[in-house]
Amino acid sequence: MHQPIKRIGILTAGGDCPGLNAVIRGVVKTARRHGIEVVGFLRGYEGLVDPVSYVPLNHKNTTGILNQGGTILGSTNKGRFAATVGIDRHIRLDEELLDGVKDTCRQLNLSGLVCIGGDGSLAVAQQFHECGIPVVGVPKTIDNDLSATAFSFGFDSAVACATDALDRLHTTAASHERIFILEVMGRHAGWIALFSGIAGGGDVILIPEVPWSYEYVVKKVLQRERQGKRFTLIVVAEGAHLPDGTLVTREGQQQDRQTRLGGVGAQVAAEIEDRTGRETRVVVLGHLQRGGAPTTFDRVLATQFGAHAVRLVIEKRFGEMVCYQPPSVCSVPIVEGIRELRCVDPASSVVQAARALGISFGDEDPQAVVFVGAAAESDRSLHGDNSRGADSRGDTQEQDEEAACLDTLRDWPAEIVAASVAAPTVGRPSVAAPTSPPAAMPPVATSPVATSLYGR
Ligand code: F6P
Repeated sequence: MHQPIKRIGILTAGGDCPGLNAVIRGVVKTARRHGIEVVGFLRGYEGLVDPVSYVPLNHKNTTGILNQGGTILGSTNKGRFAATVGIDRHIRLDEELLDGVKDTCRQLNLSGLVCIGGDGSLAVAQQFHECGIPVVGVPKTIDNDLSATAFSFGFDSAVACATDALDRLHTTAASHERIFILEVMGRHAGWIALFSGIAGGGDVILIPEVPWSYEYVVKKVLQRERQGKRFTLIVVAEGAHLPDGTLVTREGQQQDRQTRLGGVGAQVAAEIEDRTGRETRVVVLGHLQRGGAPTTFDRVLATQFGAHAVRLVIEKRFGEMVCYQPPSVCSVPIVEGIRELRCVDPASSVVQAARALGISFGDEDPQAVVFVGAAAESDRSLHGDNSRGADSRGDTQEQDEEAACLDTLRDWPAEIVAASVAAPTVGRPSVAAPTSPPAAMPPVATSPVATSLYGR
């Protein structure tokens, strides 16, 4: 006969993110409707043993937390249960520690334990499962890098934060004609950089999944200048390797915790400034991406995850984690969710769409040939001209863009154009006088790199 479920435990482990409280609320509300009590362990897995620390969760202490960032239970990604160390290597937990957790579950008469966490924390949950502790997992991470779930809550909120930062940088970059580098989080996946880069109108997106080089980044900067856009927004993921393969970290490798990434933005900025002679500033968004209220999307996803986690416990589907496989919230074995990091597929439609718009990934755009080639092909057939070789197609497009830029200037009042032409050009290209024909554009830049890139 089935034992009725009386009580379950819940904890939030690893780095915090917006939406954790929404899951807690979802679990408590759903459990209550089934007559199940909930206890919340404090400070992640640490609250499970020595000393055991928990609070009973009820309507009173979970009301009004849906839109609150952080976690009312506290969390940590350090300590005795930090299962991921070094470059994301999972380690085995101490047997004694696992026995302590079993004792706690027994003593508190828990029928299930809901573990909300990212890659490392779910690896701990998997070890609990393997030694008979009745766990279910809920994926959480702003990095969106867990396999088996299309989205984890926290990601959308982090993207919203980075997008807002780009919106703000856009205006100041344009006003001061600067290059801005925005360094965003994401560990070894480029999701936050990719999504915010698209949503925030970034010009260059550098992510771990796409090898890039300074030449192409500089090329994009100069190409924009030739179009009259004297500023550039570059979004760089903290885990994007430098062209020589270096992963930029905050500190030397520590034995007891994950590698702290960060600093790539400053290095990229220094190099770009050096190569272009243009003022280049860097903004590291850091933990702002993890703070604040969850977006509506994250609230809805987190709430569904909470409700579904209770269902898994009731159905005794231990060792599973909830996941989002659009359009449904469902579940998979935890082990599947942590098997590998889910990184951006460089061939995915979202990357292709970004490239189609002209966003540079700091590499040779494989679409440039396809798109420009198709345009040139149709142009040739319209005009019966088959004299141009493939090599001149890119130039043709660039000349068209320059011409369009000059056309725009022609519509402006003469004094504004004059001021624009007379603007200081230390290390910068000047905008062509409105009377010049497009073909007579002045050299785009004075730096040797620019000259070698454009061969002009
Ligand atoms: O995994 C979430 C995350 O915010 C990463 O994007 C980032 O690299 C890391 O955690 C930062 O961790 P901490 O708060 O320990 O510095």
